[in-house]
Amino acid sequence: MKFLRGKGENRLRVILLVLALGGFVVSQTSAIKRQWETSSHNNQTTSLVNATVEVRQASAAHCARCHSDQGFRAWLPQLLKGDPGNIKGPDGKEADVAYLTSLGLTKDKALPVTCSTCHDENEDLRVMNDTPLLPSGFAVSAVGEGALCMTCHNTRNGRVNWSAEDPGRYTGPHASSQGDVIVGKNVFFLNDTEDRISPHAAFTGGACATCHMSLNQESHTFKPPKEVCTNCHGPNMNKEFVEQPTKYLLGQVKAAVQSKVLAAAEKVAVVRAYDAATSKYTDNFALDGRTIQSLVDIGTTGGQIALKVKLTDGREVTSPLAEFREAPGGKQVYATANPIVRASWNYLMIKSDGSYGAHNPRFSRDVLLTTISALR
Ligand code: HEC
Ligand code: HEC
Ligand code: HEC
Ligand code: HEC
Ligand code: HEC
Repeated sequence: MKFLRGKGENRLRVILLVLALGGFVVSQTSAIKRQWETSSHNNQTTSLVNATVEVRQASAAHCARCHSDQGFRAWLPQLLKGDPGNIKGPDGKEADVAYLTSLGLTKDKALPVTCSTCHDENEDLRVMNDTPLLPSGFAVSAVGEGALCMTCHNTRNGRVNWSAEDPGRYTGPHASSQGDVIVGKNVFFLNDTEDRISPHAAFTGGACATCHMSLNQESHTFKPPKEVCTNCHGPNMNKEFVEQPTKYLLGQVKAAVQSKVLAAAEKVAVVRAYDAATSKYTDNFALDGRTIQSLVDIGTTGGQIALKVKLTDGREVTSPLAEFREAPGGKQVYATANPIVRASWNYLMIKSDGSYGAHNPRFSRDVLLTTISALR
């Protein structure tokens, strides 16, 4: 009898447990969903602009790899087989508009980086521990959950030859340089064939996911908690210890680039002015180089290194670095071999990373110091 009653109780307990667990799972999932909604992974505008055939035609096969759910899932099997290039169709050729449309890379269907982008059908992470060869030209080993993050958070432009005297291009690193910085790759002047991986990537369990998720109660906001450093370094460590010197050195690099820009500025007659408000260019925009007073910022337009300069009359003009010319269609004032091209790449690599050294403190410092001496 006792046995039978026990069985009934157990069954009730099991039912209650299942209900409770079910309720817990539902509320946990909706909490996670709310957190994700506040994150920029849920930025539908960027997916719509960068990952749809209406806006980018066949070149959506480039951006959709990281800027949309459907694009990433179509690309991942190809990436795991060793091809980090743009999305290919089932025939192995560059994807065309019809194939990209069939994937749902259209304005009415494209999804941002969402649950199914990172979690598979069994709720496992789609990438774990090791990355395949990435668009940034390297692979990373033994970084736990961080391998998933680095699959998208990398500079996407192939491996940089650190000792090149002339990179032969004006390309800038993509805004997602966190993966390159944390493993210490793809900069000029500093030998990045040596192992420069940050202890924050190699020895924190989950690299990116440790600081940006596990240490935060609200894991799916993807934001590190305010006092993240104290979790591992004790109560007196704070991110300003690393941020302040990194910001100072970034300022020094910018000042050194400015000196070199001003030294040759008198030759400038035209630029290709870029208007950030409309994303439009004005070709052969007359600009008397002698009126360039200072370098306001180094950035990118359309993936190419661009400089924003301030003129003596107070106006600010932004132009791709390649388009500072001696005359319309004339010689480029700053050739690709000019060290400011390599220095600007390094500057953007550390700046766009967004952590101001926290991802890889020593590497960030070494890159900036080496860049400053290379410009002297
Ligand atoms: C290898 C993955 C990858 C590819 C390919 C890629 N992106 Fe990105 N992109 C990212 C990530 C990750 C971020 C977020 C970086 C951050 O916030 O620090 C980003 C950020 C951006 C931003 C915001 C930049 C900013 O300064 O805030 C724009 C715009 C953008 N990407 C456009 C594009 C376009 C256009 C393409 C295709 C030509 C493209 N991306 C291809 C990964 C990628
Ligand atoms: C950018 C990638 C990414 C996206 C998008 C994402 N997750 Fe996660 N998720 C992770 C990672 C990484 C972990 C492991 C977290 C850790 O190490 O603390 C995780 C963990 C979880 C867990 C386990 C519980 C926990 O908090 O650790 C659940 C449940 C979950 N995710 C559900 C979701 C749901 C639902 C969505 C969509 C609303 C979503 N995830 C979107 C990467 C992602
Ligand atoms: C499928 C590609 C992809 C994966 C995987 C991915 N991200 Fe992102 N992430 C992006 C893109 C794209 C953006 C920029 C979205 C935008 O602004 O349009 C972004 C933005 C972010 C931002 C916000 C940056 C800002 O300026 O607000 C953080 C932080 C971030 N990701 C962390 C992570 C972490 C941590 C992981 C791993 C758990 C991860 N990401 C995995 C594509 C990805
Ligand atoms: C040691 C902890 C730590 C690790 C590991 C880490 N981050 Fe960060 N990350 C930070 C901190 C701190 C910031 C600065 C954010 C702030 O000040 O709020 C940051 C900033 C960022 C930003 C810029 C956010 C913004 O608002 O502009 C992105 C994107 C990002 N991290 C992604 C990543 C990715 C991807 C990885 C792995 C490749 C990673 N992080 C690894 C702590 C970490
Ligand atoms: C998840 C644990 C963890 C967190 C969080 C963390 N660190 Fe670390 N950090 C480490 C480990 C492990 C090392 C390597 C061992 C050591 O030097 O103590 C390290 C090393 C460092 C170093 C020396 C780097 C070098 O190359 O010699 C600095 C500087 C540093 N951390 C700063 C920070 C700052 C600033 C933060 C907050 C933004 C932070 N850490 C957050 C685990 C962490």
